[in-house]
Amino acid sequence: MKKISSKKDYLDLVKTLCYHDELYYTKAQPTLSDYEYDQLFQLLQEYEKAHPEDIHVHSPSHRISDPLTKGFAKKPHQTPMLSLANTYSEKEIQDFIDRIKKRLNKTKITFSVELKMDGVAVSVLYEKGKLVQALTRGNGQIGDEITNNMKTIRSLPLTLKGENIPDQLEVRGEVYLPNTTFLQLNQEREENGQPLWANPRNAAAGSLKLLDPGEVSRRKLSVVFYGVSTVERFTSQYEVHLALKRLGLPVAKEEHFAKCSSLEEILTFSHHIEKIREKLPFAIDGVVIKVDQLAYHDRLGFTGKCPRSCVAYKFAPDRVESQIESITLQLGRTGVVTPVAELTPVHVSGSTISRATLHNQEEIARKDIRIGDFVWVEKGGDVIPKVVEVIVEKRGQGSTKWRMPTKCPFCSTPLLQEEGEVAVRCTNPDCPEMQLQRLIFYAGKQGMDIGFLGQKVMEKLVTAGVVRSFSDIYTIDEKDLKNLEQFKEKSIANLLGSIERSKNVSLHRFILALGIKYVGKETALALEEKAGCIKTLATFSEEDLLQIDGIGEKAAQSIAAFFQDPKLQKELHDLLAVGVLPRYEKKMVDKDHLFYGKTFVLTGTLSSLTRNDAADRIKEKGGVIKNSVSKKTDYLIAGKEPGSKYDKAVSLDVEILDEKSFLEALGS
Ligand code: IVH
Repeated sequence: MKKISSKKDYLDLVKTLCYHDELYYTKAQPTLSDYEYDQLFQLLQEYEKAHPEDIHVHSPSHRISDPLTKGFAKKPHQTPMLSLANTYSEKEIQDFIDRIKKRLNKTKITFSVELKMDGVAVSVLYEKGKLVQALTRGNGQIGDEITNNMKTIRSLPLTLKGENIPDQLEVRGEVYLPNTTFLQLNQEREENGQPLWANPRNAAAGSLKLLDPGEVSRRKLSVVFYGVSTVERFTSQYEVHLALKRLGLPVAKEEHFAKCSSLEEILTFSHHIEKIREKLPFAIDGVVIKVDQLAYHDRLGFTGKCPRSCVAYKFAPDRVESQIESITLQLGRTGVVTPVAELTPVHVSGSTISRATLHNQEEIARKDIRIGDFVWVEKGGDVIPKVVEVIVEKRGQGSTKWRMPTKCPFCSTPLLQEEGEVAVRCTNPDCPEMQLQRLIFYAGKQGMDIGFLGQKVMEKLVTAGVVRSFSDIYTIDEKDLKNLEQFKEKSIANLLGSIERSKNVSLHRFILALGIKYVGKETALALEEKAGCIKTLATFSEEDLLQIDGIGEKAAQSIAAFFQDPKLQKELHDLLAVGVLPRYEKKMVDKDHLFYGKTFVLTGTLSSLTRNDAADRIKEKGGVIKNSVSKKTDYLIAGKEPGSKYDKAVSLDVEILDEKSFLEALGS
């Protein structure tokens, strides 16, 4: 194939490649073989390297630039991302409707009323049906380019589907973290001594701004779209949702948006949403009321940064007054100590609240919370009830400042705050409360998942002296349980049955259940993979552990120390002796497979699977994943927008597989 030397030839080549991209990605009817395509692509890259000043904005090579390594690129929005004016009362909604009728000189106006998602606004651009860019709102005019991070969201299509796909479509929506994921994330952060996210919105915003898309993908963000930036193709806002859905984009469920023609209808729908708000799996902070006919949006124009055509009707978070009776300490399984406000019980958002976490001593100092203070307690979109602020005017003489005790309230061991951590920990491995929490975790859903052995039952068993260690669980018998109230014959059989069944456990679940500090699910999986058996794992030194991908210094230290502790060694021995059988079935490996014994590095974003999935598939075939490219690397798997690893692989002459050839090779 002939080298290109003129700009005109180069531009023709860009066009040709875009055309073939379209055939390949959108129409799924490629006319070139991969090899032919790659040859053309190489010519393009060669020319661009020699003439960077000529690089065209639509060049397909943009997919392999690496803006994220230097932070986020700033990009302009096609049309500004505006804000919404807020309303809080029926009267304000009525005024909004009246203003619109007056401006448009109409007596009847239809509205689309939708959920106001409490997340992070994003704008995603599709060109010829392909996702080309995702931006945050930024200052409304210019946003941060977060394309790679957005691509980690599984429900976000990289290619639009259906007929009549517009040449360009900029869709607007909200990235959010489902409530359950938020709680899980915070639980992990608490265990790791990291500061907690105050609410799912902050967690989503923080996650979207991570520089490592791999980490973003672990956060399990979601996205929902509710609008388009240019409305020529659409006539009704209500229909926009349906049209976006037809294009394959995630939108709100149909019962979560409605066409309303009067204040009464708007209020009925809003009140209904407010009622079901608590049951939704994500946070909302109100509804958005939008003039349905999109042609009117332009006519109505803006005031400041807000369009006149839409308004938010915000639900007031349920806020009630309570009093801090005392501040107690809660201890987690890894020893983290958390202050908790013991409140005069109050009814808020459908539940009675008598406790609320205060997170850590810094949070208490920041809000100047004192024992005896009257406080506002809130439970709204946020899943966790919280003490919002002190009602300072009501502060009496008797209110007393709180200070983090220096000793563990359960075992009197001095508490320790490690450098760089906000968390304070009890360091006594024999602390009875820590033991209880470890036992609860061991038997719980994230651990051995022993049915019928929840927190309450475990507390009883521990108090009665039946269970003191993990292995004691397996020696519980009918007699022990009969002595405890609440246990009838049926529940005894249920509990003993599930204890027996839990003996047959996967190795990574078992590792996780042991409750080793800094060992979450991902780490447990990596350890399972490397060690294959618990006895081998117990022999790994800190250095061995550091060789495992994804295991850092803190984790390596903590794991090695765990298995070197004579008490824990005995515990492990006892567990195996009572018949706990952690198993790891390595998939049968085909030694003839191309990937067997080969070393791989992954870079860029793959469209049909995550990097983690790709790594799993390679490992299943007997390949080894490494973090960086070296002479020993056999293959670089390059997704879209690969990083510097790509250049390094080129310079070291490492074979590079794109997604398509990778998948083909996997299947072979
Ligand atoms: S329409 C003119 N619809 O609320 C702005 N926004 O407080 C047009 N939001 O920045 C936005 N759900 O991030 C619209 N169904 C919805 C929404 C929604 C959440 C967010 C959006 C916006 C913020 C304004």
